[in-house]
Amino acid sequence: MRLSKRVSNLPPYLFVEISRKIAEKKARGEEVISFAIGDPDIPTPPHVIERLCQAARDPANHRYPESDSLPELRRAVADWYQRRFDISFDPDKEVLPLIGSKEGVAHISFCFIDSGDIALVPDPGYPVYSVSAMLADGEAYYLPMSEEGNWLPDLNNIPEPVLKRAKLLWLNYPNNPTAAVADLDFFNRVVEFARQRDIVVCHDGPYSEVAFDGYQPVSFLQADGARDVGVEFHSLSKSYNMTGWRIGMAVGNATMINALMRLKSNLDSGIPQAIQYAAIEALTASQDCIQEHNAIYQRRRDLIIEVLNSIGLEAKVPRASLYVWARVPGGYNSMDFAADLLDQVGVAVTPGIGYGKNGEGYVRLSLTIPDAALVKGLSRLAGWRSTRRRIAKE
Ligand SMILES: Cc1ncc(COP(=O)(O)O)c(C=O)c1O
Repeated sequence: MRLSKRVSNLPPYLFVEISRKIAEKKARGEEVISFAIGDPDIPTPPHVIERLCQAARDPANHRYPESDSLPELRRAVADWYQRRFDISFDPDKEVLPLIGSKEGVAHISFCFIDSGDIALVPDPGYPVYSVSAMLADGEAYYLPMSEEGNWLPDLNNIPEPVLKRAKLLWLNYPNNPTAAVADLDFFNRVVEFARQRDIVVCHDGPYSEVAFDGYQPVSFLQADGARDVGVEFHSLSKSYNMTGWRIGMAVGNATMINALMRLKSNLDSGIPQAIQYAAIEALTASQDCIQEHNAIYQRRRDLIIEVLNSIGLEAKVPRASLYVWARVPGGYNSMDFAADLLDQVGVAVTPGIGYGKNGEGYVRLSLTIPDAALVKGLSRLAGWRSTRRRIAKE
């Protein structure tokens, strides 16, 4: 069988070795505690599930949905943006519901990238940005980010030949995997850059509602003129623990939204309507659940940081996102350290190298681990000892 180059050239799964070790441990009956996945363990709020069940029983929702979704859902998204960020959008032209934000993030590359075009992609970053550019026959140019630069890309340092071919800029704040946040000042500079270079901006913001200590992340679309140059991807996955239901949205520039809608209407047949009603309920009902979830994550965050520090790992206290991004101890790279943790104490974390070469030297721990497993995982972590340092001393 001859696969397309597009599929044959997909990057290899970087965590193959770690996944194999986890599977081996499990096969031996050993329990692995995983801090590796950013998938909320807290269930979807009951009122949302109630609405979903009700809508599932209605035969009107058993048929093909419209590609651009229910007008009531587009309106609910626009109203949510108004309430949360004080910006108004035309629900018919500037809002497009998605089958989870990943779907839209992957597909929008096909709207802007042709053969030879470049997508500017943060490194470290969510792998879908670069892979989708490659699937669209373009290339990713990685924008290096670092702890010293607060994990923000330096837009003034991109070579001219790259800028000439660049069509699209990806950004993601609160950030996965680094948990960094961006302010409006940064986003204003991004808009200016995009205007000058005629580059569209895709801001991926699924973690904007997961924030701690009273901090409220801003939206890229709050920047002056943002809707002239870009869209923001958003999701109900992390805000309302709805990863399993697959629903998100793109909001912003009408031309970009229309292009994505036209593309999608040829690829999928919309979002199951019962799930759209569940999303309307989540967006329009009381938002108290968000604070309740954030209080749980914040408590877990503090416990994780305390234990990491006690075993010599440095980690900035995150203000938002579902992640703690920690520097690995001396003598290890991120893959070695993750493997060592797994071998010594049966704890899985995500090696930073999986998010790009500037993720090297860090690991990511997720806050989405149920409390009982968290306690067990942390007591195991507290017992970890650096074999490298011991070897060095001997
Ligand atoms: C940065 C980022 N964007 C997008 C997604 C996809 O979210 P969803 O497709 O569930 O909306 C994720 C999921 O982990 C993510 O971390």
